[in-house]
Amino acid sequence: MINKGHIYTKFLLVVLVIALLLPTELMSQGSDKKNNLDAKATTFLKKRQGTWRDLNVPASDGKILYDLIIKNKYRKALEIGTSTGHSTIYIAWALSKTGGKVITIEIDKERYRQALANFKEAGLSDYIDARLADAHTLVKELQGPFDFIFCDADKEWYKNYFIDIYPKLEAGGCYTAHNVSLRGWGMGEGTKEFYDYIKGLPYMKTTVDESGGGISISYKQP
Ligand SMILES: C[S@@+](CC[C@H](N)C(=O)[O-])C[C@H]1O[C@@H](n2cnc3c(N)ncnc32)[C@H](O)[C@@H]1O
Repeated sequence: MINKGHIYTKFLLVVLVIALLLPTELMSQGSDKKNNLDAKATTFLKKRQGTWRDLNVPASDGKILYDLIIKNKYRKALEIGTSTGHSTIYIAWALSKTGGKVITIEIDKERYRQALANFKEAGLSDYIDARLADAHTLVKELQGPFDFIFCDADKEWYKNYFIDIYPKLEAGGCYTAHNVSLRGWGMGEGTKEFYDYIKGLPYMKTTVDESGGGISISYKQP
């Protein structure tokens, strides 16, 4: 005689063991993926150290962007001025940890192509929506909202970019811009115009990190 009660208990035990083990297995798969991603991005950045020649940010500025995103758990990023993607890689790497994605815009076809190849090699393509476009028009068209923005394209348009994006920047979000420096030779005309404008806005709290190429960091007040 088959003891149905006994079989049922055994079945329940098996289900229970699977239910207990499955989340651990899935979690370890998730952390394996993250470790692989870290290893790939680190290897890529190490290999390319000292080879960035297309107006790219220094690695220390990339790290500033990375830290800002991680610290504030930003997820909806926009970059204006991809070039070959050095800063994008730091932004996307941080977003791979917060669960976000970046839209990045570049007008030059050759740089855009090179950037795509770099994103692939760094293992970060899934976190990047790269657009070949004129940011003067695309920035107006993008719907947003964004919680993190890095502006590093044509300096004479810096103020216009900010004015176009401001309504799409969430409260508590951060607007950063490159080559804003209060030291040495100071800023170019367009950058200065932008800095004076944003610094004067009561609803944007602005500081400048001078440790690399100069980055203005402005938080939209809630
Ligand atoms: C300083 S570089 C960006 C460097 C990049 N952030 C990096 O760290 O690798 C500026 C880039 O902005 C691009 N650019 C200039 N005007 C633009 C526009 N109107 N729309 C889109 N990209 C533009 C240039 O072609 C150039 O590649």
